[in-house]
Amino acid sequence: MPQRFVVPHVVPYQGSKRLLAPAIASHLRAHGPIRRLYEPFCGSAAVTLYAAFHGLAGQFVLGDRLPALVELWRQIMYSPQHVANHYAALHAAQHDGGVGDYGLARSRFNAAGDPKDFLWLCARCVKNAVRFGSNGHFNQSPDLRRRGTDPLRMAKSIAAASQLLVNKAEFRHGDWLATLADATVGDLAYLDPPYAGTSHGADRRYVASLDRQELIAGLRALHKRGVTIVLSYDGRTGDKSYGAPLPADLGLRRVELDAGRSAQATLLGRSERTVESLYVSVARTCYT
Ligand SMILES: C[S@@+](CC[C@H](N)C(=O)[O-])C[C@H]1O[C@@H](n2cnc3c(N)ncnc32)[C@H](O)[C@@H]1O
Repeated sequence: MPQRFVVPHVVPYQGSKRLLAPAIASHLRAHGPIRRLYEPFCGSAAVTLYAAFHGLAGQFVLGDRLPALVELWRQIMYSPQHVANHYAALHAAQHDGGVGDYGLARSRFNAAGDPKDFLWLCARCVKNAVRFGSNGHFNQSPDLRRRGTDPLRMAKSIAAASQLLVNKAEFRHGDWLATLADATVGDLAYLDPPYAGTSHGADRRYVASLDRQELIAGLRALHKRGVTIVLSYDGRTGDKSYGAPLPADLGLRRVELDAGRSAQATLLGRSERTVESLYVSVARTCYT
């Protein structure tokens, strides 16, 4: 059978932009050749992998506030086989529909932060939805209905991602603005921060949240430095909008991307579509 080349899907991560990546990338392309593509809220790095697969940028900078995630990407690039072997061993330890060493991997991760354990937890936790308690510990339960991506498939995806990133990617753990400290004219920042409303409460969706005013101040600074911005932020389901539009002086125009049927509305017996906002830098000829 002929080999089919597809964009690798490595880290199953709730909130991943994997399905929206082609639509987002059409706005990346519209800005012409990208010297460095920054993804400082990288999560599963869906947009970076799509862009690397399609040759949209020369270099890539990946960052996140979650250290294990950044270290996972580094290991995927430099030691793909090692990451794949660890995944396969944990997968093989599941017997008779059980969850194998999930509890052990979770305790080990909370004590030592091994990124390879984090990959397993992402693949096996409920709905691939990571959750952290107020003490910062990963506290999501195992998904009893799934077994996690097949190890052979995972190994192929890891190897493909490694090939796409090797000699082209750099990894930075920390706050988004620190990751973007050296971004300048000719660079593009794809930003996918936690949306308003997903970051608070007892079990936080991500390890850190981002205040809206902080986001706006950061966007303003990037705009002044001439960094091209493509930002995913909030949206609407049916008639219900999430979050007010961002201020006009940021130099961003808002477009809407169809993210498919709302699972929540479907559960309530309504057929509604979810629309995500994408804010895109308006092209400029000079920078102030
Ligand atoms: C919506 S997810 C990104 C999903 C990603 N686009 C994907 O395709 O998987 C947001 C990410 O931002 C990270 N994060 C939260 N606050 C941050 C901050 N202040 N700086 C950098 N990363 C942050 C979280 O750990 C999480 O991985």
